[in-house]
Amino acid sequence: MDQPTPKRPRLSRRSLLFAAGGVAAAGAAGVGGLLATSGDSEPSQGNDLRVSFWGTHQAGIATPAQNFLHFASFDLTTTSRDDLVALLKAWTEAAARMAVGQTVGDDAGSKLAPPLDTGEAIGLHASRLTMTFGFGPGLFDERFGLASRRPEALVDIPAFVRDELKPERSGGDLCIQACADDPQVAFHAVRNLTRIARGKAVLHWAQLGFNRTASTSKNQDTPRNLMGFKDGTNNLHAEDEQLMSEHVWAGDEGPSWMQGGSYVVTRRIRMTIEHWDRTGLGLQETTFGRAKVSGAPLTGTKEFDTVDLTMKDTDGKLVIPMDAHIRLAAPSENNNLHILRRGYSFSDGMDELGELDAGLFFIAYQRDVRKQFIPLQRRLSTNDALNEYIAHNGSAVFAVPPGVAEGDFIGSKLFA
Ligand code: HEM
Repeated sequence: MDQPTPKRPRLSRRSLLFAAGGVAAAGAAGVGGLLATSGDSEPSQGNDLRVSFWGTHQAGIATPAQNFLHFASFDLTTTSRDDLVALLKAWTEAAARMAVGQTVGDDAGSKLAPPLDTGEAIGLHASRLTMTFGFGPGLFDERFGLASRRPEALVDIPAFVRDELKPERSGGDLCIQACADDPQVAFHAVRNLTRIARGKAVLHWAQLGFNRTASTSKNQDTPRNLMGFKDGTNNLHAEDEQLMSEHVWAGDEGPSWMQGGSYVVTRRIRMTIEHWDRTGLGLQETTFGRAKVSGAPLTGTKEFDTVDLTMKDTDGKLVIPMDAHIRLAAPSENNNLHILRRGYSFSDGMDELGELDAGLFFIAYQRDVRKQFIPLQRRLSTNDALNEYIAHNGSAVFAVPPGVAEGDFIGSKLFA
């Protein structure tokens, strides 16, 4: 799964454009043919890659990180279990269509009713769109009769020192992580899924992200975060299948409905960019333990050189300081724990003081939040030199059920 699929939609967004007479060249292939057989005659273009919605694991976790994010967290307004199941079925159907570049539904042709699809993605490519769905702790309260099915690993995230969490940016009963190489395609997905949820769930918070801050495949270059550093060098990669199954995919230690799923933690981390920009290069580099331009550890010369946490300089001082981010986060210093980072940069204008409201929307997938994110963040929150320049102001955790087989719906085993 998670491979771009050659599967063609019945009526793709580009076909609609062609059908509307937008592309003269399509005439050679026959516009009628395009409509009937759908995208077979579509021009093959680099960004028209499609990631299958169906599979063992949900797409959007091991999928090579796309460039744009639209993350949405929802509160359920219904208390009916049937409504919840109906919503997940409707989301499944719409998501599977959008993943192959289709509109969310075929209109009956009435001009009186609003169109089933909002339209802003017509003519755009599928752009590797993935939609990853998660269940927050609130789903397992008394409302839906699911309390006994709550996975033990889905714990509420405890408070950490220096947290500046805002309730309006935290938590939620359901989440959708939409990622695509075109921001309008990601927006369209969340907008239409939100619309489908009307009467059953409402948005609690949403976060846009640009420029992935992690590579999740060895074939991807390491991007830079807004502090100007390469981010994701030592991330887990989808190709590390052994590590992925040990550290990312839920196994038989928890409920069977979660096997093949994962747990996601999101943190909206504001950077005090103005402060960072007045900080000397040397201090910036010792804060992370890596060189800014090359991304190499301070104990090496190239990005992927092994990090030597024991090396000392001629004065006998550790080259990578005790409070450097990569020392404190390194698996070797943390009982060999790994997380899959899949975050994005954000920039939401400015605050009331005229400073940029920008930073890292941190997203991490793991097998057990209690053994991975929580101990790691506890350590970072108390000791990390980076804390001087950041503040966590949003936090959420969701159980991300396994992938969906064609014909089934998201999280169906939870309701079985
Ligand atoms: C704004 C906040 C953050 C920034 C700017 C940031 C940036 C970075 C950078 C530049 C690296 C080095 C390159 C790499 O290996 O990816 C790194 C490594 C890492 N970060 Fe962060 N990070 C942030 C927050 C966090 C948080 C909250 C966690 C986990 C709770 C975390 C976990 C890690 C891990 C596990 C590594 C790899 C360490 C290693 O094995 O070498 N980071 N981060």
